[in-house]
Amino acid sequence: MNSIQHVAIIMDGNGRWAEQRGMPRWKGHEAGARAVRRTVEAACRRDIPVLTLFAFSSENWKRPEHEVRILFRLFQKYLAEELDELQENGIRLSAFGRRDRFSTEVVGALERAETATRHCTRLHLRLGLDYGARYEIVEAARTLALQAVRGKTSPAEIDEALFSGMLSSRDVPDPDLVIRTAGEQRLSNFLLWQAAYAELHFSPTLWPDFGESDLQNALDDYHARTRKFGALPCAARVPA
Ligand code: IPE
Ligand code: IPE
Ligand code: MG
Repeated sequence: MNSIQHVAIIMDGNGRWAEQRGMPRWKGHEAGARAVRRTVEAACRRDIPVLTLFAFSSENWKRPEHEVRILFRLFQKYLAEELDELQENGIRLSAFGRRDRFSTEVVGALERAETATRHCTRLHLRLGLDYGARYEIVEAARTLALQAVRGKTSPAEIDEALFSGMLSSRDVPDPDLVIRTAGEQRLSNFLLWQAAYAELHFSPTLWPDFGESDLQNALDDYHARTRKFGALPCAARVPA
């Protein structure tokens, strides 16, 4: 059975969930926050060490201003309401992505939660906020180019390990499994470098309805896969 260190989820379908009920889109985001809580609990019960949730992409700034405002209000509410529980359950929270476009209140709430949970080791919950993989990759390239210009590294030294070390994921293993909900089958600029060999699972469930059984379905699907990383499956290997 494949071991699992890291599950990443593209939480999609909040808007459709609300529209199906004749509700405003923000109601879908509110229900989506409840699904986050359920999924974090389910991941804890399954001893998954790292759970990454894509909460707001760099491209999501293109949405109407009032939707963005409500989303950030919900992030702040989530952080305030969940902080005690995160600490009690040994959950470390961290966010990755840009922070320079957030209000000081949002940055403050994130930093408080990160600081308060930094010693927790049961589960590492990572939130992708104003995250875009291409931006992250270009920033890493820029940092390495600057280091090369200043003589701190040479182009010959730049390899995959050095490059990975420049990314926000430097301290976590690559995702073994990427789940996307709501039936969409694309990555939408999520973890393009880190998901090079991730198994992909597409769930038809809209994110606000996502629950323990959907997570279990995805894990069962993952465990049934043969991961080869370009080599041959174990059973097919022959001695040289
Ligand atoms: C995911 O749900 C939440 C974010 C991207 C912030 P959507 O808001 O994308 O929901 P749909 O795709 O419109 O249904
Ligand atoms: C991806 O969902 C981003 C997040 C889940 C945060 P979107 O709904 O923004 O993606 P597209 O626009 O359908 O590709
Ligand atoms: Mg969507």
